Amino acid sequence: MNVSEIDIIDLTIREFEGKKGVLIPLLQKVQEKLGFLSNKTIREISKQTSIPVSVIYGVVTFYTQFRTKPIGKNLIRVCHGTACHVANAPKISEAIYTELGIEPNGTTEDLKFTVEEVACLGCCSLAPAMMINEKTYGRLTPAKTRKILDTYR
Ligand code: FES
Repeated sequence: MNVSEIDIIDLTIREFEGKKGVLIPLLQKVQEKLGFLSNKTIREISKQTSIPVSVIYGVVTFYTQFRTKPIGKNLIRVCHGTACHVANAPKISEAIYTELGIEPNGTTEDLKFTVEEVACLGCCSLAPAMMINEKTYGRLTPAKTRKILDTYR
């Protein structure tokens, strides 16, 4: 872990200083800044907050929002909410996994893409939908999805 990462953790902890029950928001903030929560990050948070490592691990492994591995440069969120599910979302995910050669919710080896299956993205009229980074794509078909992926390669 480099000095700037330790500084980021230190500064984030200070934002929550003196408040109670802040472990989850603290972990969310650190993850937002560093991309994921590595073993080293968790140990550093433990060291600086005196919260036992086992407690932090318990939280990180319980909530699916936390990641312990690095994420790809492009985060693909495929919606599996009800509207999208009915509109064939599983076929869209399947096309993405096959195209990228990864397991469900995986990351490509070159760290270019991470895929997450998520609940409603809030644009059900566009079902089936996905987001890549901050951009939303709707009315997807497997073929359209593959074309979109190509633009990020
Ligand atoms: S269910 Fe997919 S956007 Fe709402």
